[in-house]
This record gives sequence, C-alpha cells and structure tokens, in this order.
Amino acid sequence: MTLPVSRRTFVQASTAAAAAMAFPFGTRVFGSDVIRVGVIGCGGRGTGAARDCMRGADGVEIVAMGDLMPDRLAQSREALAKAVAESPGLAPKFTVTDDRCFSGFDAFEKVIASGVDLVILATPPGFRPAHLAAAVAAGKHVFTEKPVATDAAGIRSVLETYEIAKQKNLGIVAGTQRRHQAEYLEAIERIHDGAIGDVTGGQVFWNQGGLWSREPRPEWTPAEWQIRNWLYFTWLSGDHIVEQHVHNIDVANWVIGAHPVKAMGVGGRQFRTEPKYGHIYDHFAIDFEYANGARVLSMCRQIEGTRDRVGEHFIGTAGSSDASTWIQGATAWKYGAPETRVSPYVQEHTDLIASLRAGAPLNELKQVAESTLSAIMGREAAYTGQEVAWDEVLNAKQSLTPPAIAFGPLDVPPVPMPGRTKLERVWGAE
Ligand SMILES: NC(=O)c1ccc[n+]([C@@H]2O[C@H](COP(=O)([O-])OP(=O)(O)OC[C@H]3O[C@@H](n4cnc5c(N)ncnc54)[C@H](O)[C@@H]3O)[C@@H](O)[C@H]2O)c1
Repeated sequence: MTLPVSRRTFVQASTAAAAAMAFPFGTRVFGSDVIRVGVIGCGGRGTGAARDCMRGADGVEIVAMGDLMPDRLAQSREALAKAVAESPGLAPKFTVTDDRCFSGFDAFEKVIASGVDLVILATPPGFRPAHLAAAVAAGKHVFTEKPVATDAAGIRSVLETYEIAKQKNLGIVAGTQRRHQAEYLEAIERIHDGAIGDVTGGQVFWNQGGLWSREPRPEWTPAEWQIRNWLYFTWLSGDHIVEQHVHNIDVANWVIGAHPVKAMGVGGRQFRTEPKYGHIYDHFAIDFEYANGARVLSMCRQIEGTRDRVGEHFIGTAGSSDASTWIQGATAWKYGAPETRVSPYVQEHTDLIASLRAGAPLNELKQVAESTLSAIMGREAAYTGQEVAWDEVLNAKQSLTPPAIAFGPLDVPPVPMPGRTKLERVWGAE
C-alpha cells in the first residue's frame, strides 16, 4: 500500500529526535513511508522471496531486479507479473521497470545503486559475502537467504559486515524461517523456560531424495555451467550440509543457545557420482559438541529412493521435544495449530519490515553466520576426516572461491578425500 506521503519524507519533528538516537548514522526512518525493495538473484527463491515480501507487508514496493543471467531475470519478472495479476492487491507493490532490471556480474551493484532501501539476496551462497558487504556499505537493509557463506574466508567477511550493519543500525533478516515459525517459537520458548530441564543433546536431520541438476550445454562455458548447476560445487553451495541442513543445525544452536565448539564426522559420495553432480558429497553424519557438554548428532542425505526425515529432536534432564510440536516429560505440551497459519516464508518479511518501521531493526546476521559456520565445521570434519574445532575453522586460511570469477574455462575441483584433504586449502585443492 503506497501511502500519501512522498517517498523521501522523513518522520516529522516530534519523532526526529528519538529517531536520531535510534539511527545515529542517519539511516532512513520509514514510519509510514514506502520501502523500496530490490531483488538480487532472481531464481526460484529470489522470485519466491519477492512475492513473500509483497504478501507480508504493506508499504513495500519491488522496484528493481538483478540476476547474473538475463534469461533467469526475464523468467522471474514474468512469474512475478503473473503472481501480481492473479492477486490484484499486490499490483501497487510491483513497479519494476526495464531501466531497473540488470544482468551480469555487476547486477548486484546496479540494484544497490538504484534507489532501493532494502535488498533481497538470493543468489547461490558463494556470492553472498560480497553482496552482503556491498549492501551494508551502501546502507541498505537486507533480507538474506541462507546460508551466508561457503568457506572460512566468507564467514570472516560476513562477521565484519555484521559489525558494520550493527553500527549503522541496519535490519538484516535471514531466510532460516524456523526462527519466524509459530510452532518453533512457542516450543523453544518453553524449552528455554525449562520445560525439558537442561538440554543435554539431540539429533537433527535433513534426509531426502535428490534435487535438480543441470547438464552442461555447448552454449555455456564451464564457469557458466557451474554457476547454473551451483548446488554441486562447494565454492557456490557449501555442499548440501551447508546449503540445506543449515536449517536444522540453526535450530540446534537456537535451542542450546550457543554454537558448537567441535565436530567430528563422516561423509561421502556414494550415489551421485556422475559429472553433473560436480564434486560434493551426498551424505554426512556429524557429532557436534557444545561448550556446555551437550552433543548433537546431525545427519543429512540426498539420495534417491532413501527414507526422508527432516526435523529435530532434543533431550533434556527433564524431558524431550521436537522443538516445534510437542514436549514430553515433566511439562508435557502439544502445539495447538491455529486455524489460519501464516507461512514462515511470509512471516520473516513481515517481521523485518515491522522492525524497520518500529525503528528497532532486527539483525540476524551473526546468528545465521554462526549457523553457517557450524555447518561448514561439520563439512570440514567429514572432508578432512579430522576433529575440527570452532576457532580452527573460523581462523583457517581457507578460500574455496576461484581467484577470478568470469565466464570461461573452470575446472571442477577434486572430490574431498578424508585423511588427505586439509582444512587450510584454496580453490582447486582436493
Ligand atoms: N529458505 C529456504 O527454504 C530456501 C529454499 C530454496 C533456496 N534457498 C536459498 O536461496 C538461494 C537461491 O536458491 P534458489 O533455489 O533460488 O537457486 P536458483 O538457481 O533458482 O536461483 C539462483 C539465482 O541467482 C542467480 N545468480 C547466480 N549468480 C549470481 C550473481 N553473481 N549475481 C546475481 N545473480 C546470480 C542465478 O542466475 C539464479 O537466477 C540459495 O542460497 C539457497 O540456499 C532457501
């Protein structure tokens, strides 16, 4: 909903003093003003997040879109135009014009410079640290898809960006969803209030069949193929323990109230061995140890024909819980689902926009960076075959990104080999 105030109008004098205290670096104060949103990475999730943002809040407008690939950009714009046409209430919220559509490796910079207040970051995660840094440097609020990095160097960059965002009082919400999902919020509040006693450990799972893949095409250079088929290259996705299972590892960190300090585990590539599956693994099982002694077993698998299980389970000194729908033990509880349920994909945007309007921006960047690093630590424990400690991985000289990213030749890195792969390694090493 566009309200009858000019886009650049700041709140009036009576609230200006309070705003100046809340926003010491002169960040936009929105009040009832329109929040202009740009989408960076217009694939499946970027398109979905743009739609969710429009559904989740009044006074937002998607005004700019950017994607490396012109064809993906065009598909996304068309899909959003169709979604808007089917829900007339959304029409004023989608005002993208040709001159605010950008493609190429610098599309993110052009979106950021196009007069937006907030950006949705939904490229493959390998690009996220650079895109987060640029958005925050330019004073933009952010909705960032998870995970937020794929290697140690990326995490260090994101943690620096978090500090800058904090100083600038910018809002950053992460697409980890469960932290904006009613049943998780209620169950975990109860757990934190002692419903299962002290949490001593648990299990977290993301076991499923396969995901999409793309075969190389003659018109794509090897680098373009890797980026289009990004799930299967660690520099782009982080491997599936980071790309997908981060959701459940994030829940473990939330329940325990800390990140793990050590990991040891196994993993391999048993089913997805064809070249189109790049060099990542198809299964991992990791033992995460927390500073208070709690232990969490994490298991993830992407193998066709195997049993699905996605969820969490925690054990405490006085009970157990799935952290979302039930608690057993001294204080038994079952989630009473409301008749109408708000999708957490929508709620995360509602919460971000509400926090900006209230002058108290949510900033989840450190929390999602820690969950991403937890998953990277698990991956590294399996890849190297060693026990890996938090500080070791955080400070590791590890950078898995190619030195120059451009369309052209690009080798597929070797499959990591436990016992030989080193934590400290750069692009192209085993
Ligand atoms: N929260 C969730 O439930 C959820 C679900 C799916 C995906 N995701 C996350 O969303 C992100 C995107 O996943 P997806 O499924 O939409 O993938 P996708 O392949 O459908 O979309 C990625 C898009 O980014 C574009 N892109 C690639 N490199 C780029 C660059 N350097 N600059 C600009 N655009 C670039 C691609 O062309 C593509 O359009 C990933 O981080 C993924 O983990 C989250």
